[in-house]
Amino acid sequence: MNLGPDGTWTPEEMKRAQALAAVLRERSSAPLLAARAPGRVNLIGEHTDYSNLPVLPAAIDRSTVVVAARRRDGVVSATNINSWFTARAFELRNQIAPFEAGDWGNYIKAAAQGLVTYSRALGRRTNLKGIDLIVDGQVPVAAGLSSSAALTVALTLAMAAVNEIETQQLELAQLAARSERYVGTMAGGMDQAASVLGRRDHALFIEFDPLRALPVRIATDAVLVVADSLERADKSGKLRAEYNRRVVECAVAARLIGKALGFSNIRVLGDVVRLNPARSSDEWIAVLDDCVNTTVDGLEEAARLLEVSPSGLRADLFGSGANRDAIEHPARLKIRERARHVFREMARVHCAIAALRRGDLETIGELMNESHLSLALDFEVSTERLNRMVACARSAGGLGARLTGAGFGGSILALCRPSKVAEVIEALDKGFYARIGVFDPRAVRGVFRASSGASVIELSEGSA
Ligand code: GLA
Repeated sequence: MNLGPDGTWTPEEMKRAQALAAVLRERSSAPLLAARAPGRVNLIGEHTDYSNLPVLPAAIDRSTVVVAARRRDGVVSATNINSWFTARAFELRNQIAPFEAGDWGNYIKAAAQGLVTYSRALGRRTNLKGIDLIVDGQVPVAAGLSSSAALTVALTLAMAAVNEIETQQLELAQLAARSERYVGTMAGGMDQAASVLGRRDHALFIEFDPLRALPVRIATDAVLVVADSLERADKSGKLRAEYNRRVVECAVAARLIGKALGFSNIRVLGDVVRLNPARSSDEWIAVLDDCVNTTVDGLEEAARLLEVSPSGLRADLFGSGANRDAIEHPARLKIRERARHVFREMARVHCAIAALRRGDLETIGELMNESHLSLALDFEVSTERLNRMVACARSAGGLGARLTGAGFGGSILALCRPSKVAEVIEALDKGFYARIGVFDPRAVRGVFRASSGASVIELSEGSA
């Protein structure tokens, strides 16, 4: 079982677990487990993970806590202390059909389906055991802070523990990332890796294929101010189609570069970079400009340029499985700008890590500002609100500010010296929140601290 050290639980999280346990004990006499998983904020490296290029996030001190008890049958039954999310139940099967798109229950099904598939791949013959679950999520929802990854990771940990399935941390991060794609977003693995591997007061330099993570200490004079635009960045809504379009655009860019250079095994931009890791991002951009059109008229046109069948390309890009039909097939694809962002962002991640190691916060701030501009202009995932917020934070003395997460709403992250935090927060309150009619924004902005990653513990009878 994946028992994390008890020290990773804050007293406040233990209290939440005990409150959930008291409720669950009324329904179940089985021994109880509790899992916690944090959300994440991304310092830099946005929209690079699904190209298998590096990111620099940190797990945050806002978490999801789940308390669980084994059942005798094969039913998964979940309640949420937030009454907005109504109770959900379903039976464990080899193929679990999703609820309607947008239903929170799909994250429970995602974790369950992921674990069913995983345990079958391990060769386990016995069916997974059903589970009673109760959830307390304190990661702001649809705010770009990975509440969905926190939920998926916590559920995966709880279900794995109930079924006595051992997972190492890296394996768990990858499993949860695969599982979450069940909801129809073709996301990379940053969020789940940050949630699993987080370290107190550290950012994580995460690389993919193979997944690995190196904690990098965040200097004590670097304060992370996070502020929610209150524009819902909901992965099951509009964001999903726009997000998936970016994934496809980057994958098509990679394949077009690969083809022009004579390589048939290139799938994502990370494969391109690995052809010659010594090349700088500017050199890759020159290659890109040489061999790839600015836009491609759609997937048919992409297939024609790549000399592959359109159906083959579709299957290759979108895969198959539950909810896949919910992915909107993109029409016109923007290729050059998207790939340009990814190459430059990759370079910024490397510079930011070096700067973080030497405590050079000014440079990190500048890189964050550049990242935001690139996300706004080349990647087109910022919004008017996010732009206004980063402007407020910078004008009040923030070292740098950028949207964090997928964009299309959600939150900004401002990096500040301790002496500037109050001013930056005041600038956001007056220059942004008051203007959108939020006069008490304390619950939607504040200082976040890098926290430790997910873990599961047994709750003894006496602890509730
Ligand atoms: C979402 C996805 C991540 C990542 C970011 C953008 O959070 O879940 O995998 O792609 O967007 O960097």
